[in-house]
Amino acid sequence: MEANQRDLRIYVAGHTGMVGSAICRKLSQHGYSTVRPNSRVDLRDQKQTMDLFSQLKPDWVFLAAAKVGGIYANMTYPAEFIYDNSMIQSNVIHASYVHKVKKLLFLGSSCIYPKDAPQPFKEEHFLCGYLEKSNEPYAVSKIAGIIMCQSYNRQYGTNFISIMPANLYGPEDRFNLANSHVLPAILRKIHEGKRTGAEEVEIWGTGTPRREFLYVDDLADACLFLMNNYNSSEIINVGAGDDVTIKEIAYLIKDVAGYEGQFKFNVDMPDGMARKLLDSSRLTNIGWKPSVPLRKGLELTYKWFLENEWRIK
Ligand SMILES: NC(=O)c1ccc[n+]([C@@H]2O[C@H](COP(=O)([O-])OP(=O)(O)OC[C@H]3O[C@@H](n4cnc5c(N)ncnc54)[C@H](OP(=O)(O)O)[C@@H]3O)[C@@H](O)[C@H]2O)c1
Repeated sequence: MEANQRDLRIYVAGHTGMVGSAICRKLSQHGYSTVRPNSRVDLRDQKQTMDLFSQLKPDWVFLAAAKVGGIYANMTYPAEFIYDNSMIQSNVIHASYVHKVKKLLFLGSSCIYPKDAPQPFKEEHFLCGYLEKSNEPYAVSKIAGIIMCQSYNRQYGTNFISIMPANLYGPEDRFNLANSHVLPAILRKIHEGKRTGAEEVEIWGTGTPRREFLYVDDLADACLFLMNNYNSSEIINVGAGDDVTIKEIAYLIKDVAGYEGQFKFNVDMPDGMARKLLDSSRLTNIGWKPSVPLRKGLELTYKWFLENEWRIK
């Protein structure tokens, strides 16, 4: 790291979340320090956001604050998903421009790709068709965030980059069944099944959809790599490189957790997209690849879950 990089003022918006906390850990491992608010700021509020930027004066911003959830939360709270995310990202991106932030990294998601786009999704498939309905409000807000970064770069000469991660998992994930993603939801159910000695654990859907899972510390490593090595308005995918079925992930977690019961797949519950694999060759071509295999990532996640179960809601 160059000497002047040590002096960078880095603000990780969403530092308490799964991605934000992993980025903070990664920055600290590499000798960077972060600046953060003394108390929680509501980034949906423009004045609070502007005041925060006046106080922190960040050089770099990682925009990992968002309303995030699985299929149930997306279908139950569509208005909150589009409102909260549109407000948070508009305020943070605009404040970054006004306060002359040198570089911003915006966290998008693989759900911005059209449901019928060819698999694996390449960056050029962005905006080539209709979205999956179950998380359309969330995806539309993420698409607006990407276009906002690109527009600010074009009009104001900013350096705001947008990355599209695969499904993430790891420490500080949400394991609450009302708003968790598929992997933490399955882990939680299997753990409860083991704890209560249940003969059967219910998994939503058919178990056949395929998902690509990236350990969150790998994602954080990619974020830091891209802050140092990527300066384009074009979106860039960050994936693990391969995918598994929901059934396969359930059996892997069952093995890691040591659960001996069976699964019951509830086909009355929605599956979501059949497949969501990213083509991450743009990223691998510039020199980054993941290092945590799925089995290892699941072991680390379950270990973290057991150590932190007392504070998990
Ligand atoms: N999780 C995934 O699988 C995944 C996959 C692809 C992309 N991403 C993207 O990665 C980013 C982070 O996701 P995550 O999984 O880390 O989510 P998370 O664990 O739910 O963390 C979200 C963070 O945003 C903060 N936040 C939410 N509303 C806020 C508000 N109004 N004002 C200030 N802070 C607010 C939360 O703080 P409080 O706890 O204080 O509310 C928390 O720190 C999101 O942009 C998401 O789209 C995630």
